Amino acid sequence: MDKMKNPFRFLSLLVLCFSCRIIPSLATDSISANQTLSGDQTLISSGGVFELGFFNPGNSLNYYIGIWYKKISTKTVVWVANRDSPVSDKNSAKLVVSNGNLVLLNESQIPVWSTNLTSSTSDSAVAILLDSGNLLLRKLESSENLWESFDNPTHIFLPGGKIKLNNKTKQPQYLTSWKNTEDPAQGLFSLELDPKGTTAYYILWNKSEQYWTGGPWNGQTFSLVPEMRLNFLYNFTFVSNENESYFTYSMYNTSIISHMVMGVSGQIQQLSWLESAQQWNLFWSQPRRQCEVYAFCGGFGSCNENSLPFCSCLTGFEPKSPTDWDLQDHSGGCVRKTKLQCKNPSSSNSEKDWFLAMPNVTLPKHAQSVGVGNAGECESTCLKNCCCAAYAYDSNGCSVWNGDLLGVQQLSQDDSNGETFYLKLAAPKFPDAKHKKQEIIGIVVGLVGGVGVFLAICLFVMMRMKKRGVGLRRTVASSSMAFRHCGEIIGIVMGIIGGLGALLAILLFVIFRRRSLVGKGKSVQGSLVAFGYRDLQNATKNFSEKLGGGSFSSVFRGTLPDSSVIAVKKLERISQGEKQFRSEVSTIGTIKHVNLVRLRGFCTEGNKKFLVYDYMPNGSLDAHLFQEENSKNLEWKVRYQIALATARGLNYLHEKCRDYIIHCDIKPENILLDFDFCPKIADFGLTKLVGMEINRILTTMRGTRGYLAPEWISGVAITPKVDVYGYGMMLFELVSGRRNSEPSKDGQVKFFPTWAATVVIQGGDVLELLDPTLERKADIEEVTRIIKIASWCVQDEESNRPSMCQIVPILEGFLDMSLPPIPRSLLLFVDS
Ligand SMILES: *[C@@H]1O[C@H](CO)[C@@H](O)[C@H](O)[C@H]1NC(C)=O
Ligand SMILES: *[C@@H]1O[C@H](CO)[C@@H](O)[C@H](O)[C@H]1NC(C)=O
Ligand SMILES: *[C@@H]1O[C@H](CO)[C@@H](O)[C@H](O)[C@H]1NC(C)=O
Ligand SMILES: *[C@@H]1O[C@H](CO)[C@@H](O)[C@H](O)[C@H]1NC(C)=O
Ligand SMILES: *[C@@H]1O[C@H](CO)[C@@H](O)[C@H](O)[C@H]1NC(C)=O
Ligand SMILES: *[C@@H]1O[C@H](CO)[C@@H](O)[C@H](O)[C@H]1NC(C)=O
Ligand SMILES: *[C@@H]1O[C@H](CO)[C@@H](O)[C@H](O)[C@H]1NC(C)=O
Ligand SMILES: *[C@@H]1O[C@H](CO)[C@@H](O)[C@H](O)[C@H]1NC(C)=O
Ligand SMILES: *[C@@H]1O[C@H](CO)[C@@H](O)[C@H](O)[C@H]1NC(C)=O
Ligand SMILES: *[C@@H]1O[C@H](CO)[C@@H](O)[C@H](O)[C@H]1NC(C)=O
Ligand SMILES: *[C@@H]1O[C@H](CO)[C@@H](O)[C@H](O)[C@H]1NC(C)=O
Ligand SMILES: *[C@@H]1O[C@H](CO)[C@@H](O)[C@H](O)[C@H]1NC(C)=O
Repeated sequence: MDKMKNPFRFLSLLVLCFSCRIIPSLATDSISANQTLSGDQTLISSGGVFELGFFNPGNSLNYYIGIWYKKISTKTVVWVANRDSPVSDKNSAKLVVSNGNLVLLNESQIPVWSTNLTSSTSDSAVAILLDSGNLLLRKLESSENLWESFDNPTHIFLPGGKIKLNNKTKQPQYLTSWKNTEDPAQGLFSLELDPKGTTAYYILWNKSEQYWTGGPWNGQTFSLVPEMRLNFLYNFTFVSNENESYFTYSMYNTSIISHMVMGVSGQIQQLSWLESAQQWNLFWSQPRRQCEVYAFCGGFGSCNENSLPFCSCLTGFEPKSPTDWDLQDHSGGCVRKTKLQCKNPSSSNSEKDWFLAMPNVTLPKHAQSVGVGNAGECESTCLKNCCCAAYAYDSNGCSVWNGDLLGVQQLSQDDSNGETFYLKLAAPKFPDAKHKKQEIIGIVVGLVGGVGVFLAICLFVMMRMKKRGVGLRRTVASSSMAFRHCGEIIGIVMGIIGGLGALLAILLFVIFRRRSLVGKGKSVQGSLVAFGYRDLQNATKNFSEKLGGGSFSSVFRGTLPDSSVIAVKKLERISQGEKQFRSEVSTIGTIKHVNLVRLRGFCTEGNKKFLVYDYMPNGSLDAHLFQEENSKNLEWKVRYQIALATARGLNYLHEKCRDYIIHCDIKPENILLDFDFCPKIADFGLTKLVGMEINRILTTMRGTRGYLAPEWISGVAITPKVDVYGYGMMLFELVSGRRNSEPSKDGQVKFFPTWAATVVIQGGDVLELLDPTLERKADIEEVTRIIKIASWCVQDEESNRPSMCQIVPILEGFLDMSLPPIPRSLLLFVDS
């Protein structure tokens, strides 16, 4: 067969090569009527900013025509032509300009995507890729635009692009997410301008369910997104005329590469390319919390903001498509592991469907209320209805849900918004099916084995009795020797089977026991090491080398048998149970960033609880900043790098962590220095172990004056902005080299932050503010920038403080900012 095929294959290869050669090469930015684009050919915009051609996302076998950034190492596709109709062979598919349209022909030369323009009849159109990322189709002679990709965006909103509403048809234009990370087909989430003609943007699920709006535009910001006021990157403008209304934006600094994307996560995200880190940096995303995205985990899925991954299935359910889940597409949701009995009247009591309580959740969307008087009636209403999947009975009466349960959120045990609903499940009543199944197998095998042994013994005894002539049916037995032998053999065989069965049962039991123990340990630990108390006692020489301590911990230096040096933190006042402690610690263990101290492991034995970290050889920042000997002081460049790297670490905690961690105690003592003075933030996540309210009490009691944001004392909710405040106070100290709360080294009594802010605002001598040991050796611009940021960070109103993600690019020098007002609370210190 192979021999038969070979000549043809050879021929087709030849034809292919031949055809490659006659196609004009496309080292240009345009494609006109006599040209085609195929295979690895691409268009490159005249300035070399964008490139257009075939691409296949991830491991996908499908090819799409797309536009991507030419200069960026991570291939980032900003527009896709045939997102819903891929082709499978990029060499025989081609993009052509035909009859005044841009058309993609598939392998069989059949159009699968087209610009669909009807008016034009002439052949003389040309498609041009611009440096803005816009693909234009225009008439060759008149240069009149026939079509542009900016009018037909897919998932990304580029600077200069628009997401518009047609004022005549009232048809909105959608920015629609990919289906998953490897499939550009239209996903469920899209952004649109309010079809009613207001200036608000909406995000919709399946183009029907609105779950986010930015509120109307007031000329500077969308009313519900006040932090945009501090968005120094984009210059937004609203345009409205008789044909269309839309927003567009430009970059204040055009050398920054940035865009907005409707993500697979259902969030609109603002990303900027960080050349130094070779990655996209998330500036901002809405809705802020993943679980606010409508039905993010699909039907019968449950979203948990405090876990990774966010989505899991409700008890008794499993992902419909595990591969899609792996690609971050949860829209398929979960399906039942066991079908419901429904109202089959013949089913016995043990086979009846039953209800499992789901406590501490937000209720599913689209409840139907039923007018019944008590919980029992509510339950039986749901039980009787085959389609009913769950019910809840609370102060609003009885609610039932038919069909898929959407939008269930698992809350933490102490979230007072938690409610309870009852999920209908099929019998048998085993909540932990997998584990139980293994036990059942064990029991069955054991039983079979046992019965086998019992039978064998019985048979053996019977044979013996027959041999001795005690049997009642002597005549029958003696009449057939063959039968007797047969019986003996059966007995022996049964005995062997029985024995083997019993052995197997014991083996299985042992294996399952061990596996369930190992599994439990692993799931809690992740990459963390669970140390024994003895190990730590030995490593720290019986806790003899104390490095430091706070109000709920002391830290000891230790050396592991592999001679790596560790810092062992002994936790006090941790009232949490073992299980919760392990789960919190394993969450903290997943948080890794170059500017965060790495958690290596933990130890929990009885009341003793320890966290084990990498040891930082150069200690904490305060020791270097506030020490008396001038000789060892940090140079300005190093201080600036410390400010920047700390901001990156904090930004990571606030934005990138699935968990959204507030540090609560940013101060020089908690900034540790690595051997080359790379700063690492210590003690993040401890709030999770101690509890926010206890932490509030401890924090205010401790009263680290100069770091406490006003909201600690006023008692309102604590947000990441408390860290911004602490960070701002620390920036002042980096400049002055003294604690804000102490008088200066030369005896001046001015409160440094107030003094510094005033000097910068009044355009005074900035270097005068500098730590005297630096002898004015510093970059004036950098000092000014740091003081400006610091003054913004310590604003009384937390909404006036920038977020860490806005601070990072300012420190990186990408962005500038306006002069801050002096906070009222700082003015109190003017003459003190
Ligand atoms: C296309 O080819 C035809 C003849 O082969 C030629 O007359 C025409 O000018 C070409 N058009 C363009 C746009 O190059
Ligand atoms: C090309 O597209 C047509 C129409 O969608 C389809 O019927 C045909 O199977 C496609 N050819 C290939 C090779 O995929
Ligand atoms: C073009 O028109 C066809 C048929 O009406 C439609 O299926 C296709 O989605 C349209 N393509 C675009 C890019 O609008
Ligand atoms: C989205 O809406 C369409 C009808 O508008 C419906 O057919 C489809 O099932 C919906 N998708 C999901 C995932 O519910
Ligand atoms: C912002 O954009 C508008 C309209 O494009 C323009 O008139 C204005 O000058 C821009 N502002 C800045 C600061 O670039
Ligand atoms: C839409 O067009 C109508 C006239 O066709 C006009 O009166 C109206 O002001 C336009 N809307 C906007 C938002 O410009
Ligand atoms: C609106 O559309 C009409 C017809 O396409 C065009 O003549 C007119 O210039 C457009 N108005 C604006 C403000 O673009
Ligand atoms: C969470 O659920 C548990 C168990 O049902 C319950 O005891 C606790 O009160 C719930 N927590 C809240 C805040 O409702
Ligand atoms: C560690 O110290 C405890 C008491 O502080 C003592 O009982 C124990 O023997 C010491 N262990 C070692 C190995 O030194
Ligand atoms: C204690 O640590 C030393 C080296 O650090 C090692 O040789 C010794 O075996 C350890 N002892 C125990 C009991 O783990
Ligand atoms: C910082 O750590 C390195 C490596 O341990 C050490 O050589 C250096 O002396 C330390 N610097 C200071 C100022 O302590
Ligand atoms: C614009 O950003 C670049 C870095 O991308 C920076 O080098 C340049 O100084 C910035 N320009 C302005 C005016 O801020």
